[in-house]
Amino acid sequence: MSEKSVDSLSESEAASELKRLAEEIAAHDQRYHAEDAPTISDAAYDALRRRNLAIEQRFPALVREDSPSRKVGAAVSEKFRKIVHAIPMLSLDNAFAEADVIDFVGRIRRFLRLGADAPLAMTAEPKIDGLSLSLRYEAGRLVTAATRGNGQVGEDVTANARTIAEIPNVLSGDFPEILEVRGEVYMRLTDFAELNRRNAEAGKQIFANPRNSAAGSLRQLDTSITASRPLRFFAYTWGEVSAMPADTQMGMVAAFERFGFRANPLMKLFDSVEGLLEHYRLIESNRATLGYDIDGVVYKVNSLELQQRLGFVSRSPRWAIAHKFPAEKATTILTGIDIQVGRTGALTPVARLVPVTVGGVVVTNATLHNAEEIERLGVMIGDTVHIQRAGDVIPQILGVDLEKRPADAKPFEFPTVCPCDLHTAVVREETAGGVEGVVRRCSGEFACPYQRIEHLRHFVSRRAFDIEGLGEKQIELFFNDPDLPVKSPADIFSIARRDAANLKKLRDKDGFGETSAAKLFAAIEDRRKIPLDRMIYGLGIRHVGERTAITFARAYGSWKAFHDAALAIANGDLQTREEMDALDDIGDAVIDSVARYFGEEHNRALVEKLAAEVEVIDAERPVSDSPVSGKTVVFTGALERMSRDEAKAMAEKLGAKVAGSVSKKTDLVVAGPGAGSKLKLATEIGIEVIDEDAWLARIGKA
Ligand code: IVH
Repeated sequence: MSEKSVDSLSESEAASELKRLAEEIAAHDQRYHAEDAPTISDAAYDALRRRNLAIEQRFPALVREDSPSRKVGAAVSEKFRKIVHAIPMLSLDNAFAEADVIDFVGRIRRFLRLGADAPLAMTAEPKIDGLSLSLRYEAGRLVTAATRGNGQVGEDVTANARTIAEIPNVLSGDFPEILEVRGEVYMRLTDFAELNRRNAEAGKQIFANPRNSAAGSLRQLDTSITASRPLRFFAYTWGEVSAMPADTQMGMVAAFERFGFRANPLMKLFDSVEGLLEHYRLIESNRATLGYDIDGVVYKVNSLELQQRLGFVSRSPRWAIAHKFPAEKATTILTGIDIQVGRTGALTPVARLVPVTVGGVVVTNATLHNAEEIERLGVMIGDTVHIQRAGDVIPQILGVDLEKRPADAKPFEFPTVCPCDLHTAVVREETAGGVEGVVRRCSGEFACPYQRIEHLRHFVSRRAFDIEGLGEKQIELFFNDPDLPVKSPADIFSIARRDAANLKKLRDKDGFGETSAAKLFAAIEDRRKIPLDRMIYGLGIRHVGERTAITFARAYGSWKAFHDAALAIANGDLQTREEMDALDDIGDAVIDSVARYFGEEHNRALVEKLAAEVEVIDAERPVSDSPVSGKTVVFTGALERMSRDEAKAMAEKLGAKVAGSVSKKTDLVVAGPGAGSKLKLATEIGIEVIDEDAWLARIGKA
């Protein structure tokens, strides 16, 4: 069947096709659900739904009363189309105390080599507690609206965004050809209360807080529901922009206002940390009168040129930070303590609580960290406890109300064996100095089912393999599944080989239908190609977090190079160890942990099986044809034109490896005044040494 592209349909063609699709899809639904006798494949069925949705998105006015997209509760498949962000949507680092903010500004000054008196203008504005949205305008018209998603890929909520009054469909003023405006969708407290009141009366969904309510309202298949909800929007940042309308943060936001957006009236410019902190205190004391929820204050460097120079670390900018408000507190009763076994075998006591609402969220458990913490708090089961919750972190127990201790309160005894079936002994790890650590670990390693499950959970988590539809909950179901057991990462990919028998098994499971089974397989297939840093992070090596994984990926470039190095280290190869040690931010703890991981037979086998199933994408080499790409550079002594960090970031952008120490592998040493032993060693082994000016000339920045 030859089909016209959605873009070329006329309005009347679209209307008649939507009618035909509604009838056709309803007939398939009937045959599939009621008669158990489908006449088309899942893929063909999905294609029909996708086309229906695409036409509706182009002609929102033509959405029919009987449209298949209005039937809620159907398979997840027709939820939302995905949009790849032209520029990733990042998150912010957090500051919890004034000292953190002072450190943050100090770091910026050092990075930029600004003296304590040099001017540095920064903005401060409320951190809105809503959900972020990226709006793309082409020639002044709204073309797409996407949620943040995982930062790289978001959900297409264009039709819904069009119904929000504070989001212009057409821009005013002197806008650039391409403009992505980003900001926060939120709901005012009075609107939220009114919506809940109406919903309660009508026996409909009640939302826990304005944030959930805004999210639920925006992520709606039925656009008319979004339209009926009082959503609002503050613009505060941007993605792709073809021609920048300003060169400061303040200027950009003022431009957004000219284009027709609302900006937060509490955004202000300051020239000192003290000014920022004063504004924080002002906003905090007025928090209750704003009429909408905020959870902190965001500080940003005002100059866009400086923002550019500062760049990013991992997934957050160096030039901004969120100063969070203190945690909210509540009182409840401790009903029990369970032991959880983490991915690394660490045994963590978890407090079970009588449910209590803290800052709009129902809390039922809290972390107790370790046995020492239980002792320090002196808490017993049955006690009344004070808890606090800050942001998304697990709530904590602050203390016990001893006066309320009941006569039958019971002390807690920390188990000496792992709660897993193996009942393996619990050991306390020694620290580098030979001191007994506080963490108790199960000694069962990969044989311990808890650790295996945790490894798998970590493997599928958002920042690792991030397989859609296979979250941390589902992986546990598969782990215990007799038909389709997933015991190691490779199993995920081997069950998803398009094998009819497996697909049928999956289809027959509770909670899986024909479409969702096919969808899950497709999502797994999607992740068979995986960036190197995610692969390394996903392995769950102790001490190898996201940033370390990125460092490894950049340094080794390919899976083979990393894997060879890891095996060499496990075999005690000293030269490889030295090379790894020379990488920035990689020290003995990480290297020992990599060595232990790859020295363990189960792990080696697990990794090999996984590597055979996936295709690892080489790390992006920022630039491969610069005069320093592929070269290992060491900076030593003082730099006069920029900070060490900036020099390093610049070198890495140009494809160089920056090492912390000089070895035979070093290609170039950039030495400034005061250089000592590194310079001496470099001269001794005959490595090229240049000064800062020569370095800048070499990279074309002189
Ligand atoms: S700036 C590159 N400004 O906080 C960073 N974010 O933790 C761009 N948020 O995902 C973000 N109010 O959803 C910025 N005034 C504000 C904000 C704000 C709320 C949210 C945003 C972001 C999250 C980061």
